[in-house]
Amino acid sequence: MENFIDEVKSRRTFAIISHPDAGKTTLTEKLLLFGGAIRAAGTVKGKKTGKYATSDWMEIEKQRGISVTSSVMQFDYHGFRVNILDTPGHEDFSEDTYRTLTAVDSAVMVIDSAKGIEPQTIKLFKVCKMRGIPIFTFINKLDRVGKMPLELIAELEEVLEIDAYPMNWPIGMGKEFLGIYDRFYNRIEQFRVEENDRFLPLNEEGELAVEHQLQQSGLYEQVLEEIELLNEAGNEFSEEKILNGTLTPVFFGSALTTFGVQTFLETYLKFAPEPQARPSDIGPIDPLKESFSGFVFKIQANMNPAHRDRIAFVRVCSGKFERGMTVTLARTGKTLKLSQSTQFLADDRSTVDEAVSGDIIGLYDTGIFQIGDTILEGKPIFHFNPLPQFTPELFVRVTAKNVMKQKQFHKGIHQLVQEGAIQLFKTKYEEYILGAVGQLQFEVFEHRMKNEYHVDVNMEHIGSKVVRWIEGDTVDERLNSSRSMLVKDRYDRNVFLFENDFALRWFQDKNPDVKLYNPMDDEK
Ligand code: G4P
Repeated sequence: MENFIDEVKSRRTFAIISHPDAGKTTLTEKLLLFGGAIRAAGTVKGKKTGKYATSDWMEIEKQRGISVTSSVMQFDYHGFRVNILDTPGHEDFSEDTYRTLTAVDSAVMVIDSAKGIEPQTIKLFKVCKMRGIPIFTFINKLDRVGKMPLELIAELEEVLEIDAYPMNWPIGMGKEFLGIYDRFYNRIEQFRVEENDRFLPLNEEGELAVEHQLQQSGLYEQVLEEIELLNEAGNEFSEEKILNGTLTPVFFGSALTTFGVQTFLETYLKFAPEPQARPSDIGPIDPLKESFSGFVFKIQANMNPAHRDRIAFVRVCSGKFERGMTVTLARTGKTLKLSQSTQFLADDRSTVDEAVSGDIIGLYDTGIFQIGDTILEGKPIFHFNPLPQFTPELFVRVTAKNVMKQKQFHKGIHQLVQEGAIQLFKTKYEEYILGAVGQLQFEVFEHRMKNEYHVDVNMEHIGSKVVRWIEGDTVDERLNSSRSMLVKDRYDRNVFLFENDFALRWFQDKNPDVKLYNPMDDEK
């Protein structure tokens, strides 16, 4: 069993969060290169290289060039087994993106040094914060001119409300980028210098221990001043605060030129948490517990409509998964044999025979699983805590094109809603409103209704809304207006869809007795 414990303790499972174009793909590729998982950069995203996944992925996926195969990537490095989970951006942003963050033990936040904190980074950051997971920051593209580092740190702390501790500090930027002053390893790492000469040691005072031309540069003096400022006025390094998610260690670098990436990876692995216990209805489940358990955090239904098969992504939370094992699906109490399993690694889908706590497996699903499902071996049967609900921002009114297809229409919607593909609201006139966090969810919905339920749907965009749930069971129906639309969610809870933030504030001013809440503010 000792072997099992070592295996689990070697796992580091994280997601990279960023706004599109900050460099997530580039950083992922460089990490995979260090891990020897891929041979050449440019193989992670089909879109960039024109290499699409095998022909059986559905049309939307092909058009968009999303590669399911890159959803989870795994590599070994210095005795660690690293699992990187993809969090799609752009129009592909969806509830799945958020849910992926429930399956990781830490997150890496990539920021473009010229852009600073961008909207999608904020959204994803909030989900990580809500879970209290450690967040490591990589400020990218130092080979280009960007914002001043002090400004970036201030922005991080003010916009995201998290303390930051710069592990290293850039010396110049753009054409004048000379390298990083590494506070953690007490050395300077020079940009575009061969590995043998790249590192220069610092003395106890934090100054160059050897004579070097760098001392002639005004940038060196400036960095020493900034470091002094950080030492005196900045946050203190605290491993405890990193682990409880209240302090983010910050690394500067340039993913494209592979600079600072290895230093980042090695330091990240030093401080990133091993698989953590998961809360359940019988208390936290220890990842070192021997019997297998896991939960479904994402269902990818982008497969060939002729086969209708899907992949359920499972985070292993305890024990060891073995192909062919029999487990219980906690929701129904039924047993299943897990014979077809898939692990995802860069370009290839390969079959996995074994996985332990912290790993992610893909199970072929013929419609058995739902998002949030617990699967487990042995007794007692327990359920992991439900996945948090995410606040949708985009809405459409949906109807069946052909009124004769009402039955299939209702069946399709209810199944897709239950599966977690989309959120459903109903007006008092029994109109169906669908909510999503990203446009792709509507496209997938439309496609699946057509292919799986043979119903063409009309979707009328009603734009973005600010959603708030209402505490208590009763609400005055007279409060329903075009600016504050009163609807019910699928659990029959009362919900307001406000036209915008202004309408929300105005409503709250006028109706202080109506208690509103946003589930994404409350989750812990
Ligand atoms: P994403 O996954 O976060 O969306 O970003 P991605 O890695 O695709 O990077 C977005 C763009 O930024 C790419 O350029 C990429 O080459 C560039 N980039 C990433 N890291 C760095 C860096 O450290 N320095 C500089 N200067 N650029 C960087 P592109 O022109 O949009 O794509 P491509 O056509 O070059 O692939």
